[in-house]
Amino acid sequence: MNATSTRRRVVVGVGGGIAAYKACGVIRHFTESGHDVRVIPTRAALNFVGQATFEALSGNPATPEVFDDVPDVPHVRVGQGADLVVIAPATADLMARAATGRADDLLTATLLTARCPVLFAPAMHTEMWEHPATRANVATLRAHGSIVMTPASGRLTGTDTGPGRLPEPDEIGLLGDLLLERPDALPRDLEGVRILITAGGTREPLDPVRYLGNRSSGKQGFALARAAVQRGASVTLIAGSVSGVSVPAGVEIAPVVTAAEMEQEVTRRAAVADVVIMAAAVADFRPVVRAESKIKKNGADPDPIVLTTNPDILHGLVTARAAGDLTDETVIVGFAAETGDADGGVLDHGRIKLVRKGCDLLVVNAVGDGRAFGTDDNTGWLLTATGTETALPMGSKTLMASRILDAVSEVRRDRR
Ligand code: CTP
Repeated sequence: MNATSTRRRVVVGVGGGIAAYKACGVIRHFTESGHDVRVIPTRAALNFVGQATFEALSGNPATPEVFDDVPDVPHVRVGQGADLVVIAPATADLMARAATGRADDLLTATLLTARCPVLFAPAMHTEMWEHPATRANVATLRAHGSIVMTPASGRLTGTDTGPGRLPEPDEIGLLGDLLLERPDALPRDLEGVRILITAGGTREPLDPVRYLGNRSSGKQGFALARAAVQRGASVTLIAGSVSGVSVPAGVEIAPVVTAAEMEQEVTRRAAVADVVIMAAAVADFRPVVRAESKIKKNGADPDPIVLTTNPDILHGLVTARAAGDLTDETVIVGFAAETGDADGGVLDHGRIKLVRKGCDLLVVNAVGDGRAFGTDDNTGWLLTATGTETALPMGSKTLMASRILDAVSEVRRDRR
């Protein structure tokens, strides 16, 4: 059980698609977090995975029928008592039945009685996902307050590829955790907004095998991308070196290595972005000389490494906006990783950095002593150019991402 969760009642609904086997990973995610998991498969789902598997994994009955256990009135009780319902995979047929309010099995009856967050993770062939009937059903479910995830793109059953692939179980689990932490964390307020996010650390080569790098895992930037897509944004993620992260569904990834490459990608793409979020840990310095071949031991101490300063990408964006190369409406968000020192605390340094960088929002994190870098949880402050300062309480990086996106939305609203 992680720091932010208590034992909650999670319903995992499983639709009848080949991706039903991946529901096992979703169930495991929630049981390993210590939650009470109740699996409700559709009858069709049991063609793909047996009831015994769902019961063994969850430790609870897993029937698709409303007429089993009638004295317990499961068709209303399970939904009424749930803190979260996750449907994985959500097939076209299951979403159609849910959108029209059918209650012809235990899962759809549960959906009608649930008053908690409902997360649909769709999986189907691209043609079915793109069909106007499915689009309309998705729109209806969203209008009813459910969260329908943007599916991943990639290999589907057979040889075809395209959007419609089930998002990875870990990602479904992370978004489920977010909704348990904060039920209103995924409003559809960024529909069509183009967001450019940098994440991870840059690596500055010394020779073909060595580099200067930093401890950034990329988790905060990836969490921002993951949450932004599910709020309707069109997201491009410029990723340096990362660890312990998986590619969020529906996000375009542009991999880079050095600060110079990151600057090039950001500059090229920022002109068509509505929001740029610089979550990457960009190396401030790079070696002046990059050896063509491996630097060998020769008995003597090596020459000192001489460094030169990298461009400040964030400041460059603010300058480009002032020069009219970006639109005035472009929202620019920076991060500050601070340790505090004799000149001031973490927040003091954050305030100075906000002014120096000139961005609209600055997320200030305390780093050092195992904080922020590589961890799953984070805490900090959110400073705005208009002078507001909000404490971001300790919580998952996905939760922090949702609060940062709230602030982005607010800046966009104020500008209109
Ligand atoms: N940043 C950047 N380009 C750089 C260095 C940093 O765009 N060459 C961005 C980071 O992505 C982050 C913000 O600037 O959004 C602040 O990064 P940080 O490392 O905290 O600040 P620095 O500018 O490097 O200042 P200092 O190291 O002096 O604290």
